[in-house]
Amino acid sequence: MSEDIRVHTEAGVMTITLHRVERKNSITAAMYGAMADALSAAEADASVRVVVIQGHETVFSAGNDIGDFLNNPPAGQGSPVFRFLHGIAAFPKPLIAAVCGPAVGVGTTLLFHCDLVYAGDNAAFSMPFVNLGLCPEAASSLLVPQMLGYHRAAEALLLGEPFMAEAALEVGLANRVLPPTEVNAYALQQARKLAAKPLTSLVETKRLMKKGQSTLVAQQMQDEGASFGRMLREPAAREAFTAFMEKRKPDFSKV
Ligand code: COA
Repeated sequence: MSEDIRVHTEAGVMTITLHRVERKNSITAAMYGAMADALSAAEADASVRVVVIQGHETVFSAGNDIGDFLNNPPAGQGSPVFRFLHGIAAFPKPLIAAVCGPAVGVGTTLLFHCDLVYAGDNAAFSMPFVNLGLCPEAASSLLVPQMLGYHRAAEALLLGEPFMAEAALEVGLANRVLPPTEVNAYALQQARKLAAKPLTSLVETKRLMKKGQSTLVAQQMQDEGASFGRMLREPAAREAFTAFMEKRKPDFSKV
């Protein structure tokens, strides 16, 4: 278990907390692995009825750890990041996210697989894959246009422009916007409400709501994953990651 992921289970609710605030909760391979393991355990354990994913009231997640992208890029569908992405996409029980501050890259794309999303009024969602020489992941190239409409999706995915909590509420990505100090507690309160309901009904209702899409989502993740894995090693991404580490603007003029 990674030190940077805290897992706590109480009264039917498993809470997975990103706990690497000094690195803005950016996610390493070990953290993806720990979250994937926690989701598998939650699925297998009949006493866990709901999972909450949360960060800190100042930051949800700065996305993938860029040093990891540079030095330890994921290799194949069995790698921790893909295990995590497949885990959230296929998770059969209710999944709730509590999001405050920046939610970058996978910090935003994972939310499209959550059933309920509660956001702090400081939440800022962004998917800057193109700015990093990459392409979307987590089936976001399918799910973002579906939820935002094509043109707003193009702003988010081609330009990589962030959007704030109120816009997330308007498009339906967030269920409710709250003061940041209240978000995690509110998500837990909603999780407890769900945990008091019959699990079989929750699981069956979620399955029925998702079944029209589940094959498409899996195929899109496969397709994106092949491109993403290749692009991670290509010059545009290498330049973007090196520029981030060197705290300078990337120069894409030669790629
Ligand atoms: N990977 C690795 N380190 C990261 C990181 C990431 N994704 N995001 C932030 N960090 C590190 C910073 O390098 C910095 O390290 P330092 O203290 O050694 O300089 C530290 O975390 C604090 O980040 P900083 O950028 O100073 O915080 P901020 O509050 O000014 O900005 C963000 C927060 C999230 C907006 C900004 O850190 C950011 O844009 N991060 C990169 C996001 C990204 O592109 N992720 C990949 C998505 S696929």
